[in-house]
Amino acid sequence: MDTLYLRITDPDKQKNDIERAASFLANGEVVAIPTETVYGLAASAFDAEAVKKIFEAKGRPQDNPLIVHLSKPEDANKIARDIPEKAFELFRRFSPGPLTVILKKKDVIPDEVSAGLSTVAVRIPSHPVARAVIEASGVPLAAPSANISGFPSPTCAEDVLDDMNGRIAAIIDSGSCECGIESTVVSLVSSPARLLRPGVITAEQLKSVLGEIIIDGAVLRPMKEGQTAASPGMKYKHYSPKAKISIVRGSRDDFFKYLEQHRAEADHALIFEEDAPFCSLPFVLFGKENEPLTQSARLFSALRELDRKGAKNVFAREPSKEGVGLGVCNRLYRAAGFRFLNDKKVIGVCGQTGSGKSTVCDIFRKNGAEIIDTDKIAREIVLPGSKTLAALANNFGDDIIRPDGTLNRPLLAERAFSSSEKARLLSSITHPAIIEISRERIKNALDSGKSAVIDAPLLFSAGMDKLCDVTVKVTAPEELRLSRIIKRDGIDANEAKKRATVQKEEDALSEKADIIIKNYPPHSAEEQLKIYHLI
Ligand code: TXA
Ligand code: MG
Repeated sequence: MDTLYLRITDPDKQKNDIERAASFLANGEVVAIPTETVYGLAASAFDAEAVKKIFEAKGRPQDNPLIVHLSKPEDANKIARDIPEKAFELFRRFSPGPLTVILKKKDVIPDEVSAGLSTVAVRIPSHPVARAVIEASGVPLAAPSANISGFPSPTCAEDVLDDMNGRIAAIIDSGSCECGIESTVVSLVSSPARLLRPGVITAEQLKSVLGEIIIDGAVLRPMKEGQTAASPGMKYKHYSPKAKISIVRGSRDDFFKYLEQHRAEADHALIFEEDAPFCSLPFVLFGKENEPLTQSARLFSALRELDRKGAKNVFAREPSKEGVGLGVCNRLYRAAGFRFLNDKKVIGVCGQTGSGKSTVCDIFRKNGAEIIDTDKIAREIVLPGSKTLAALANNFGDDIIRPDGTLNRPLLAERAFSSSEKARLLSSITHPAIIEISRERIKNALDSGKSAVIDAPLLFSAGMDKLCDVTVKVTAPEELRLSRIIKRDGIDANEAKKRATVQKEEDALSEKADIIIKNYPPHSAEEQLKIYHLI
């Protein structure tokens, strides 16, 4: 197929060109159009056959739905039903602009567009050429980003041409896209609203209209095995250039120190403008360190530029996750396949007794991490003369302190576990003390260039998950856990069962852990930690 190339700078003066593009669309063809975010591959959203051509041109998986583009908010009623008032509020505040809202769909939208879902993604772009084409074609336009699936989205017509020449009817060239990353996607189908893809309209801006929103876990993390995607696009490899990108964490100094130590491992750097004078490798720039809008505008074109330069292994600076930065990180993390280097972080490890938490912590230790053992800290905070011991005596009776000043543990346990209220009182005294010491040790570990691993049986119920960048739950089948406890503590099966079932609250809460490590044959805990880039 010959692809017609149309350069449109002023839609008002180039009505003929707009009409030509619109007539391709009316005839069931696919046209690449500029938007304020990235270029899109458009076809009539009412024409299932035309929409199929989009999937073919991109090589896109069939189960990944498309966004429908409208020229005005009222038109949402034509394609969506039961639209909540909040959706119109969002459109009033942020449309036309880089925002997509997921709503319940009407039957006029074919399954090809929604990939069989009962919902539809609605967006009103602000780019004057996109708006003129939608209006001239007289139909809503289904349009994904105009890249081959998996590659970085195109932010200029040359990039579209690289991917789509010969595959579609026409490309409209209207220069570079302003935002440079795709629209913010928020779902109003569930309550509270859920941010599925961050973009130039920020989470904070959405909150100002919606009140509460949930930031989907897949925004900054790879999806967990077996997890279903709230947005099907999240599960695919995305934005990936051919070059292997690795994000080197830390400040500018940390980055260049790491680069000097590992020079042989990289041939290019992806850095901020201010970094350029310090860089001894060939580099590509993506905006200014403290201006996320300049980063989003450049990121995808920078990734493509790296490929044109023949980059194989690239060290990248990490942007801040604030505001628009969240969208930049979301794209860069995926482009890097979540590969982080120099990654000093705080990892919380929990798991039922016998699951093999200690084995996992030993692997972390072997890989240079500092282990913070909260059981040990729990004993330190009640040493003779300590503040916490005094507070315990105040609340549970002076006789819990033995004449030699040490804690009478069995007596405290008897009193504290006599009611759930008393148990809570005990936690409210000990947990803050444990957390305070843990914080200090985390800081020391990070300051000395090590990751900190918090080994905490009550990671979630004690609120210590909030100290962590990532939480890990170690699991093993009950039978295996019991046999491990019996062997480890030299007790019988009944006693082992009792010990294994005392943490109901923690067990439920720890379902929230970011990563599950299966610590039983044939699984290798070490392999799994590597896959998640934790070691
Ligand atoms: O800025 C943009 O949104 C660009 C321009 C061209 O408008 N379009 C774009 O489309 O980025 P695409 O197809 O590359 O990304 C759409 C994302 C995908 O991750 C898809 O899974 C998600 O939106 N999506 C679409 N419909 C959805 C739905 N009904 N429910 C949940 N997610 C949906
Ligand atoms: Mg895309």
